[in-house]
Amino acid sequence: MLHDRDRIFTNLYGLKDPFLAGARARGDWDDTKALLAMGREAIVEEVKKSGLRGRGGAGFSTGMKWSFMPKEIGERPHYLVINADEGEPGTCKDREIMRHDPHKLIEGALLSGFAIGAHVAYIYIRGEFYRETEAFQRAVDEAYEANLIGRNNVHGWDFDLYVHRGMGAYICGEETALIESLEGKKGQPRLKPPFPANCGLYGSPTTVNNVESIAVVPDILRRGGAWFASIGRPNNTGTKIYAISGHVEAPCVVEEAMSIPLKDLIERHAGGVRGGWDNLLGVIPGGSSVPVIPKSVCTSVLMDFDSLREAKSSLGTAAVIVMDRSTDIVRAVTRLARFYAHESCGQCTPCREGSGWMYRVLSRLARGDGRIGEIDMLEDVTRQVEGHTICALGDAAAWPIQGLIRHFRPELEARVQARRHIQAAQ
Ligand SMILES: Cc1cc2nc3c(=O)[nH]c(=O)nc-3n(C[C@H](O)[C@H](O)[C@H](O)COP(=O)(O)O)c2cc1C
Ligand code: SF4
Repeated sequence: MLHDRDRIFTNLYGLKDPFLAGARARGDWDDTKALLAMGREAIVEEVKKSGLRGRGGAGFSTGMKWSFMPKEIGERPHYLVINADEGEPGTCKDREIMRHDPHKLIEGALLSGFAIGAHVAYIYIRGEFYRETEAFQRAVDEAYEANLIGRNNVHGWDFDLYVHRGMGAYICGEETALIESLEGKKGQPRLKPPFPANCGLYGSPTTVNNVESIAVVPDILRRGGAWFASIGRPNNTGTKIYAISGHVEAPCVVEEAMSIPLKDLIERHAGGVRGGWDNLLGVIPGGSSVPVIPKSVCTSVLMDFDSLREAKSSLGTAAVIVMDRSTDIVRAVTRLARFYAHESCGQCTPCREGSGWMYRVLSRLARGDGRIGEIDMLEDVTRQVEGHTICALGDAAAWPIQGLIRHFRPELEARVQARRHIQAAQ
């Protein structure tokens, strides 16, 4: 379990004052100037040393990503873009940072912006997060008034932070679609390369990071990269905010150590599975786009990048969706397939056509209205969509279905056979 002394988000539940006075009392903005005095390169090195991997889903090394930005600031300005779109079903961690611990994020933005040479940052907030935007904007206004950010601020690094609200499209969470949307265009992903570090917002060098990735930076710099790296296990370091929902006694958002066993996370923090551990059917461990894992795997898997990859799933956004044995797993995954078909931006054929096709076939199979051979055909189509699209939404549409077939194939087959028997009897 994470010791209280190692907790970064000490106001995650909003029990204390989220705004400047409260934030200062919790240690935010404490001699930030000394942290900036470390210099750009030293900050990047410290973040690399911490082992921090992006908290937005893909788990790419944050320090490494920063080091891709040009070292010198040329004619084109550098930009930091904070991804607060949080559209992944089951995921509700970044909103807690924005409304309850906003100054950690603002201070993190200043430090991260400095590290990559950006005088300007944008935060792109999911449209539905109205109250979160209000709270966050209030904290930004406070930071400007106190001269913590803005031109000629007390820290000596000019820094403007603009709050931008999205309109609720899931695809606008993908970093290049987000950039397009910020530029006022239709939110559709760009082909890469060029990568944002070379040609991002307004054609300028840009780094896009998740809210949680940025908000942990001040603590990493104050306590040292080695402290962050000492939590969890190698290659999977630090504290992590998990969101646990579904069939548990007490759904919650909690900061814990990376690599905590999934079973401990559910039992210690979410009151356990409804009806007890033996009533568990399976868990989607990282937001709706990652493959479901059955109870047998849940018993021993660790909540981190490597353990979940070995279990053929993923940490994703660490949004843990728990399903007990009352769940109709085929219908549940069919519902997810519908979501991805609906959210496809339509640019690439495998995703546009494949996501709708997969949804329709799965809907029929859920009703038992199909042939056993179609299960293999469905699996084959997921392989043709996966890895053959511009962005990872194609993978996100394919993976939950692959997980269903891998672990719950007998469920699908039984449904088809049951329907056959009914038809034969009629
Ligand atoms: C369809 C789609 C939706 C995404 N939505 C989000 C999101 O809501 N928030 C987020 O931080 N990253 C999201 N991502 C990941 C981003 O593209 C990007 O990898 C991330 O913001 C990088 O930040 P990090 O390195 O700090 O994790 C999404 C990716 C895809 C393909
Ligand atoms: S994979 Fe889907 S969502 Fe992503 S660019 Fe292609 S069509 Fe659009």
